[in-house]
Amino acid sequence: MSVNQIYGESPNQFYLNLGKNFFAWMMAKRSSTYNKELGDRKRSLFANLQGKVLEISPRDGSNLRYYPPNIDLIGMEPDLQMHSYLQKQAKELGLNIDLRFGNAEWLDIEDNSVDTVVATLLLCSVPNINYTLQAILRVLKPGGSFLFIEHIAAPEGSLLRKIQNTISPIWKTLADNCYPDREIDIALQKAGFASVNYEYFQVGLPIVSPHIIGVATK
Ligand SMILES: C[S@@+](CC[C@H](N)C(=O)[O-])C[C@H]1O[C@@H](n2cnc3c(N)ncnc32)[C@H](O)[C@@H]1O
Repeated sequence: MSVNQIYGESPNQFYLNLGKNFFAWMMAKRSSTYNKELGDRKRSLFANLQGKVLEISPRDGSNLRYYPPNIDLIGMEPDLQMHSYLQKQAKELGLNIDLRFGNAEWLDIEDNSVDTVVATLLLCSVPNINYTLQAILRVLKPGGSFLFIEHIAAPEGSLLRKIQNTISPIWKTLADNCYPDREIDIALQKAGFASVNYEYFQVGLPIVSPHIIGVATK
């Protein structure tokens, strides 16, 4: 029995949990459509992966099915509870995955050792986006690629951007530190990659519809 079951939850905790459950339900309702919308894009983004590939925060492994079988895959997943699930999924897909515990800002991986880093919907959530991008640059081999899909801030001055800015504190609390209004496209351009190429697209999600997909090369 938990302490909360003995003493009861505080009203604040009760409303926070209610909000989180509602948020999770709302996003889950959209998630199968979202995954379908992203599937074709992921298939082409990951089609030519080869050599040593690091995925940061694969979480439930939603990208694994798009990976070619002969890659040397490392999964850096901070949630240890996901490890056995990821291992099982990789096995079913015929992939070998070397799962490691760690965070994106301090990647415990040798410098200049990885051909490709993959991250999807990560840069919206990391506490420090600049440290994360520098860590990715550090571990990539010269000429190596960072493949990403992220939701981003709507254009400055737009109605959606005003809504994103206003809702951001609540959104972060309900959605595990996800910032709806991060200028990830600008952070990528400023990080120091030799080239950054991406395209904008929209998905049918509330608040976080503007997305980018692309490749940054070291
Ligand atoms: C929206 S989920 C995306 C999960 C998965 N990449 C996907 O595309 O479905 C955001 C993930 O970022 C992870 N995350 C947040 N901060 C992190 C950090 N500092 N280092 C590594 N992962 C982090 C969370 O654990 C969470 O799994």
